[in-house]
Amino acid sequence: MCPSSPPASPRLRVLSGIQPSGQLHLGNYFGSIRPNLEWMGKAEQSLFFIADLHALTTVHDAAALRQARADIILDYLACGFDPAKALLFEQSKIPEHTELLWILSTITPMGLLERAVSYKDKVQQGIAATAGLFTYPVLMAADILLYDVDTVPVGRDQKQHVEIARDLALKFNNAFGETLKVPEPQIRAEVAVVPGTDGRKMSKSYGNVIPLFGDEKAVTKAIMGIQTDSRGAKDPKDPDTCPVFQLHRLFRSKGEAEALSGEYRKGLSYAEAKKRLLAAYMGFFGAMRAHRSSLRAADAAEVLRHGNERAHELAAKTMQRVRKAVGLL
Ligand code: ADP
Ligand code: TRP
Repeated sequence: MCPSSPPASPRLRVLSGIQPSGQLHLGNYFGSIRPNLEWMGKAEQSLFFIADLHALTTVHDAAALRQARADIILDYLACGFDPAKALLFEQSKIPEHTELLWILSTITPMGLLERAVSYKDKVQQGIAATAGLFTYPVLMAADILLYDVDTVPVGRDQKQHVEIARDLALKFNNAFGETLKVPEPQIRAEVAVVPGTDGRKMSKSYGNVIPLFGDEKAVTKAIMGIQTDSRGAKDPKDPDTCPVFQLHRLFRSKGEAEALSGEYRKGLSYAEAKKRLLAAYMGFFGAMRAHRSSLRAADAAEVLRHGNERAHELAAKTMQRVRKAVGLL
């Protein structure tokens, strides 16, 4: 069982969002998609959405955004999203997100946003310091608060954003009366950081990813090109410092990982360890990859139509309460 497996919580409403901002990689799958999808059928209602308005803070190329939106929807279906158990919708199709963003921004203290680490990180990475990037956490708070959710499973990098959503719900209720449901602190168990091909955290911004879908050649090239130290083929090796071994652990039971660790210490070559990693990757993702390559945009149309419609109904109800509370109705 995956360590991040959610408890059976029949009364919870859970929300997860993902940005369409590039090709999915192993880190996204193990760190975000798989643990999020595990909520399906366990929570009373699970909502998944494509955070395409958030993606506009970094993607300023219409064709690229269009492609990324289409891809991520099919990626989610291929990864196991089940429309019978959950809703999938598009943020930009629900205008209430931006309406609530504005209303919340009028009660958001500047200091709260100035303390947000992801803004500083992104600016440091070279992303333009725009007002949209700065108010990113307020849009995320609107995403969460619109749906009266109980919890938002996110990785460590997004925890502060969920805390900001909580702060803003409390602040709003304080100012205008009980209106917004305060989400529980996020409860996703810590997921290990997946290393990239250079040993740093796998991230599209480092160019060190192993893609989830797409060209088999690219996957093979990425895996066979993982950086290792200069120990000779037959020398004993240290599994704990080797990214190839860390990646193997994603696919193996504890016992299998221990056996492999023994082989490392006895002098398994890096080339052989990589070959086996490629085989493990294909074994694990083979069926998903085949499913993904058979999917077409039309396969998602009905899922999205239903998801957008239901999400809109939920969001519209919350917005009515908000408009009344602030005096716009
Ligand atoms: P990237 O770093 O490639 O831009 P994102 O920031 O778009 O990835 O990642 C979306 C989510 O995927 C993150 O919130 C995080 O939960 C998860 N994630 C990304 N990279 C990793 C990784 N290397 N290990 C574990 N989880 C990851
Ligand atoms: N900021 C999240 C990320 O980059 C995506 C996101 C946007 C989100 N709105 C959300 C996640 C609301 C959960 C809830 O990963």
